[in-house]
Amino acid sequence: MKICALFGGPHKQGNTAHLLEHVLAGAQSRGHICQRFDLVDLDIRPCKGCMACKKPKAKGCVQKDDMGLIYEAIAQADLLIFASPLYWWNLAGPLKNAIDRFFALPFAAAKEQSLFAGKKLMLVMTSGQPASNDGREGLELILQKMCSFTGMTWVGTVTTGTNEIPVEQQPEICARAYATGANL
Ligand SMILES: Cc1cc2nc3c(=O)[nH]c(=O)nc-3n(C[C@H](O)[C@H](O)[C@H](O)COP(=O)(O)O)c2cc1C
Repeated sequence: MKICALFGGPHKQGNTAHLLEHVLAGAQSRGHICQRFDLVDLDIRPCKGCMACKKPKAKGCVQKDDMGLIYEAIAQADLLIFASPLYWWNLAGPLKNAIDRFFALPFAAAKEQSLFAGKKLMLVMTSGQPASNDGREGLELILQKMCSFTGMTWVGTVTTGTNEIPVEQQPEICARAYATGANL
């Protein structure tokens, strides 16, 4: 299986990145091919809402930036991972920006051959509040709706809170993240 992980946080060695790395290590242990994009390093401009991508005979997004790499990786992927710290009950900005740019792809499963149809979607997220706090609830609902509209299958969330203890000092959650990756 090919896995495309879009990491939207600012800390490439932070809590969310560590949690994601455990998931990817588990997946790699079973031979899955993983590609991680640190969006903070990429030139991904916000969607302009120009609708040029929806005109007849349009060839994708008119903005030529690093989003081209992501479009290619998504097309190849069997599983997408959105990885982000919880920011204000939501995804971090760079990841939201990239998702907005998915608009240039065929995505509506009911109307067209959605590029996302048959793929899986997972969320890897850390938050300040403990995982038992329901801060992600609204976001998970949105991602589930995104899945049903685009034809993806929702796999679920790997998550923990970090206010008290950083991810690397939570061996149980690290092991769970690895096992989740290994059992994909
Ligand atoms: C701008 C910002 C917004 C945040 N919003 C929330 C929030 O809504 N709920 C929450 O539990 N934690 C929130 N946090 C805490 C982070 O989600 C938490 O510290 C996370 O583990 C940081 O991950 P990182 O080490 O990968 O950057 C916020 C932090 C920042 C900087």
